[in-house]
Amino acid sequence: MRRVSSAVLGALLRAPGRGPGGRDPSGALRVPFSAGTPPQPVVAAKEPFPVELKAGKTYGWCSCGHSKRQPFCDGSHKTAAPGMAPLRFTPQEDGTAWLCGCKRTQNPPYCDGTHQGQAVQGAPLPTQP
Ligand code: FES
Repeated sequence: MRRVSSAVLGALLRAPGRGPGGRDPSGALRVPFSAGTPPQPVVAAKEPFPVELKAGKTYGWCSCGHSKRQPFCDGSHKTAAPGMAPLRFTPQEDGTAWLCGCKRTQNPPYCDGTHQGQAVQGAPLPTQP
């Protein structure tokens, strides 16, 4: 197996289109990682959040689960989950959307029903301050 130095790996991760957050070309959520254990989102809620969205407005969906403004980012990832970033999205229509609260959806930022599984329903929720 060929080894890649950390300098080369860092350069690859900083390459255009490789920044934190967002989606890869296949449409999957891109979650940045560092050399240690990859950051994992916490379950913020065991059900989705119904929210009214405006067409053309950009929103930042919390992907780490630490935000106190669920389902939107409040910047908590900077200290609670370094290396993670919100998913920015811009709806094309006004209306109600069900945004994922468990942070395990395969169709971020939208709920896909993953929260109904035992992995989410049995997970602890973050403690309130
Ligand atoms: S709340 Fe996450 S998949 Fe439904």
